[in-house]
Amino acid sequence: MHVLTILDHPDQASFTSAIAKEFCTGAEFAGHTTELADLHAEGFDPRWSIADVNGDSSGQAPEDVLAEQARIGRADAIGFVFPLFWWGMPAMTKGWIDRVWSWGWAYDQLEDPEISLQRPRTGVLLVPAGARSDEMDELGYTSAIETGWINGTFGYFGFTNRELILLNGSKGSKSRRENLLKRAHDAGAGLKFTR
Ligand SMILES: Cc1cc2nc3c(=O)[nH]c(=O)nc-3n(C[C@H](O)[C@H](O)[C@H](O)COP(=O)(O)O)c2cc1C
Repeated sequence: MHVLTILDHPDQASFTSAIAKEFCTGAEFAGHTTELADLHAEGFDPRWSIADVNGDSSGQAPEDVLAEQARIGRADAIGFVFPLFWWGMPAMTKGWIDRVWSWGWAYDQLEDPEISLQRPRTGVLLVPAGARSDEMDELGYTSAIETGWINGTFGYFGFTNRELILLNGSKGSKSRRENLLKRAHDAGAGLKFTR
């Protein structure tokens, strides 16, 4: 199987970047081919623009969006790696999703998030977060994020297997971070496919 990893962090020496590398290494260990989309290094423009609006109505998406869609077309699984920012996605990931998973290509209606125009894929979200998991659970952030992303957004993209892995305590001790890196490796090595 082919695994595409979408990395959102401007610093290639960051913990988030290390998580993406471990996920890829784990997937390769399990015999999959991998491709890393380092959105900052590649200079992806996340701003939804008039070209995207016109693309929706004309069916002719901008070139950079077409290139990302071709990359998705090759993938059987997609891993998203981005830090939790203000209990949501950083602007780069948000914009990549807004622009690339477009109406008429990813989905054509909004009544049922289980119906997508895309073929079934596996989707995994690996999200470093500064907060502790018990804090997030107690205050309702974890369930809010699960609802928005797992029950909502990623269903429309045809992710029949989809999992949110919150990597809490990402600024914690060395052993804590090593543990989180191992979780990322295991997530890559243990990817499940519907077919
Ligand atoms: C702008 C910004 C917003 C953040 N918002 C949150 C947040 O809402 N919840 C949380 O748990 N951590 C939050 N954090 C902490 C990051 O998720 C955490 O530090 C993460 O490890 C950053 O990735 P890095 O270590 O690879 O740089 C935020 C950090 C920044 C810079």
